[in-house]
Amino acid sequence: MPQVSPPSTDRPPPLGGLLRCLGCRGAVGPCGSCAGCGRSYPERWGIVEAIGPLVGRDRITEAFYGGPAWERFRPWERRFLAIQGGSRRARRPILRHLPGSGSSRLLEVGIGDGDNLEFLPGGWEVVGVDHSGARLDECLRRFPSMAGRLARAQASELPFPDGSFDASLCVGGFTMFEDHERALRELRRVTRLGGPVIVADEQPWLCRMGIGHLIGVPRIDRWWLRGLGLDPEFVEMVFALPRDLRPVFRDVLPGAEWRRIWGGLGYCVVDR
Ligand SMILES: C[S@@+](CC[C@H](N)C(=O)[O-])C[C@H]1O[C@@H](n2cnc3c(N)ncnc32)[C@H](O)[C@@H]1O
Repeated sequence: MPQVSPPSTDRPPPLGGLLRCLGCRGAVGPCGSCAGCGRSYPERWGIVEAIGPLVGRDRITEAFYGGPAWERFRPWERRFLAIQGGSRRARRPILRHLPGSGSSRLLEVGIGDGDNLEFLPGGWEVVGVDHSGARLDECLRRFPSMAGRLARAQASELPFPDGSFDASLCVGGFTMFEDHERALRELRRVTRLGGPVIVADEQPWLCRMGIGHLIGVPRIDRWWLRGLGLDPEFVEMVFALPRDLRPVFRDVLPGAEWRRIWGGLGYCVVDR
């Protein structure tokens, strides 16, 4: 009979013990399976897989951020940040709402390549989630110390218990989320009472400010956006985004402050 050794107890639990089962909410042990229902949460090079099937806009954006279209579109995003005075300056009106001193545990939803990390106070414990495995791989390549603190998860279903974080942050992905309301409820749920939930992005109407839409010939905008390397499904999705996200914020986070940033082209919402 072959000898089977028991799972090592020295192994740290995934995400420092924070990971909760998406199905039954049970704790996930060091071996990466749920103590309650047995569902497994595999970890690959310090990134835990904690995601269910993606639908609607989430499916489209995952393909976009994980594929060549994002690489082709990136220089345009960099130009946008350059117009706002560069990455540091563009992020300042968002990150200034984070607690300034002491050590805190922060969740970033849609962490991407980790571009906010260098601007966060040292000593903070940051956990990042993103639905794109490619972006998480790149984040880990740039910031190896994030190993064990990254999860492939979606904003509308966060694999953490209530009140796990002192603050949570979501920069640059929110406008295109499939379920804005559910994502906001999740951000609020996993952030402790009184801890800020900060959400910032470009305005949903920005992509309808192209010359084609302004003169009533939207196909002109379709044509040049595709020329920038965006695929047709993605382009149709951005044209169909809700025009105003303020009602969702008002419903879910009635006390939150809504601020215009980036010369009015973006918004930053802070709820405490
Ligand atoms: C524009 S990037 C922003 C990255 C980073 N937060 C920053 O400020 O540079 C948006 C990121 O959000 C992620 N994202 C978009 N929708 C998401 C969702 N529903 N759940 C989790 N991540 C999502 C994308 O994969 C992408 O990496």
